[in-house]
Amino acid sequence: MYHLNYYLEQVAQLFADEQFVAEPVELYEPIDYTLRLGGKRIRPTLLMAANAMFGGSDDTVRGAALGIETFHNFTLLHDDLMDRSPLRRGQPTVYRKWDENTAILSGDTMYALAWRYFLRQPSPRLQEILNCFNETAIEVCEGQQYDMNFERRSDVGIDDYMMMIRKKTAVLLAGALKIGALYAGAPDSEVQKIYDFGIHMGLAFQLQDDLLDGYGDVAVFGKQTGQDIRDNKKTYLPLRAMEMANKDQQKLLAALFSSKEADDEEKKVKQVMALYDEIGLRDEVKRAIDDEFKKSIWTLDSIQVDEERKTALREMLSTLDGRKK
Ligand code: IPE
Ligand code: IPE
Ligand code: MG
Ligand code: MG
Ligand code: MG
Repeated sequence: MYHLNYYLEQVAQLFADEQFVAEPVELYEPIDYTLRLGGKRIRPTLLMAANAMFGGSDDTVRGAALGIETFHNFTLLHDDLMDRSPLRRGQPTVYRKWDENTAILSGDTMYALAWRYFLRQPSPRLQEILNCFNETAIEVCEGQQYDMNFERRSDVGIDDYMMMIRKKTAVLLAGALKIGALYAGAPDSEVQKIYDFGIHMGLAFQLQDDLLDGYGDVAVFGKQTGQDIRDNKKTYLPLRAMEMANKDQQKLLAALFSSKEADDEEKKVKQVMALYDEIGLRDEVKRAIDDEFKKSIWTLDSIQVDEERKTALREMLSTLDGRKK
């Protein structure tokens, strides 16, 4: 059986072979820019690895692999506009490099292109596959709306946060794995398990992203740090910090996370980070991440295929564990 690197290379080749620029270039160049910058390409890699794990051949899922990654990149164009993020993959975001209308329309086009890629690939289970893709897309939008709603709320709990990240992030990793399994014709019980595996992996993944927003190195992470703090995002960090803080710290934290357009945003970021350090938040978040990774491993353990076939997914888990970007 193949290792993770094999699927990463397959996915890289898939995108290298694809032509994204067409007329009008104003629409397609930002798409080409985004898809060529690459990123980690986790979702198509998961899709291909899950398909192979259940005995499917790579040729049957290339369209879906292109589709799921194109969809993911569409969400990033719109997300960066919504979050006012200047940097992605170490480069200016599309709405900054071009403008807001470009991010909207090139993004919309990528969503439609994703469907075109999916429709390239026949399968006896295409109805189920497209249904999974579509339901996943709806959940991602729901998650994104909760994420925005929470910016203005001061009563968000950890349960609300977990529900929100499940939708905005985890379901897409889970959906990618499920679609791979469906192409391979896996039994329903195992399709459900690979989906659950993806949910736990996705929760760990978003918790890590939230931690990296605070503690990442911009040059490696490729995104501006402190952006969640500037945006008053109710991530696991401020929510757990609130639980661990004393009364004075709670007051300060609540004030900082409700300030609108602080005059001195950099001062706000520094104050929040200093509070986190005082509270000892970092190790606590690492523990939460570790818990979700453990759950994902247990779920993978329970899937009924030869252990050797799980190699690539186990390698994915260890690559993601402790990731810096
Ligand atoms: C970014 O996803 C959005 C989140 C869900 C945190 P990735 O971290 O997979 O981004 P790329 O595609 O590798 O750049
Ligand atoms: C990512 O959430 C969710 C989606 C893009 C759907 P974030 O807003 O935390 O992602 P980054 O940090 O901008 O990549
Ligand atoms: Mg964002
Ligand atoms: Mg966001
Ligand atoms: Mg983030």
